[in-house]
Amino acid sequence: MSRDPRYDILFEPVEIGPVTARNRFYQVPHCNGMGRTFPSSMAAMRGVKAEGGWAVVSTEQIDIHPSSDITGATEGRLWSDQDIPYLARMCDAVHEHGSLALIELTHNGKFAPAAYSREVPLFASHMPVVGNAPVQARAMDKTDIRNYRRWHLDAVKRARRAGFDIVCCYAAHNLSLAGQFMLPRYNRRTDEYGGSLENRVRLFREIIEDAKEAVGDTMGVVARFAVDERRGPKAWSSTRKGARLSRCWPNCPISGTSTWPSGRTTASPAASRRRDSRNPSSPS
Ligand SMILES: Cc1cc2nc3c(=O)[nH]c(=O)nc-3n(C[C@H](O)[C@H](O)[C@H](O)COP(=O)(O)O)c2cc1C
Repeated sequence: MSRDPRYDILFEPVEIGPVTARNRFYQVPHCNGMGRTFPSSMAAMRGVKAEGGWAVVSTEQIDIHPSSDITGATEGRLWSDQDIPYLARMCDAVHEHGSLALIELTHNGKFAPAAYSREVPLFASHMPVVGNAPVQARAMDKTDIRNYRRWHLDAVKRARRAGFDIVCCYAAHNLSLAGQFMLPRYNRRTDEYGGSLENRVRLFREIIEDAKEAVGDTMGVVARFAVDERRGPKAWSSTRKGARLSRCWPNCPISGTSTWPSGRTTASPAASRRRDSRNPSSPS
């Protein structure tokens, strides 16, 4: 059966920074019950996706430090050099079929009770950890922020050593410290990381810039963030502040944005600009 030419573009290569995806099929990050606990199954499953034709095959969220420990959930981890080999196996399985391997890095912030690592959870402001654990997250001071940036950068460098082609800086789904900093309902800071939207986005911007500086033209750097939480009037919304988010890092190659679990929004800075030009009086 011949292909409808309207879909031809899906099969054309696309550049993502210095790397080129052989088509437009981009398997977004998703947890799968395997992660670091069942690394052989995880690597084989990602390999099957590459074999099936996805040009970019992503990990699930990979947490970057013991203070981000969500043991109990079966996810990925990149705390030290010891975590490189299992991720390298995934990269090999993906590369074997000519696809690009993407890693999504996160620190779980107040979603990390750190029950295994016994670290003190870190967050934008003093707040209880989510869930049943009777644990309090501590508001990050400037040293914590410097440490967090270093942990993220170390994870980027380890990801490159594992063989990944693209690194995704993550601020979506309420599951990432950098994303949690953006939300006024969590961020009560009065320093340069709190208050205005530009201040609340600062940390995310910094980890993106750190990553880009470290990898140069050896890896693509992309960002995943939500512009619409679908959580009512006090949450991010694509018609209010969420729309401004995509303009906070004009030089960053944005892979797209999406909401989850309820949404299906996909946007890019260019799409936001098009919408704004149609409706110049839209609130910001
Ligand atoms: C079981 C499950 C696990 C997921 N894990 C992640 C994850 O680790 N990181 C992430 O960015 N998104 C994760 N997602 C969200 C998906 O990447 C995706 O955004 C979602 O399934 C909705 O699809 P859409 O964005 O195409 O609308 C997960 C989704 C599901 C259903």
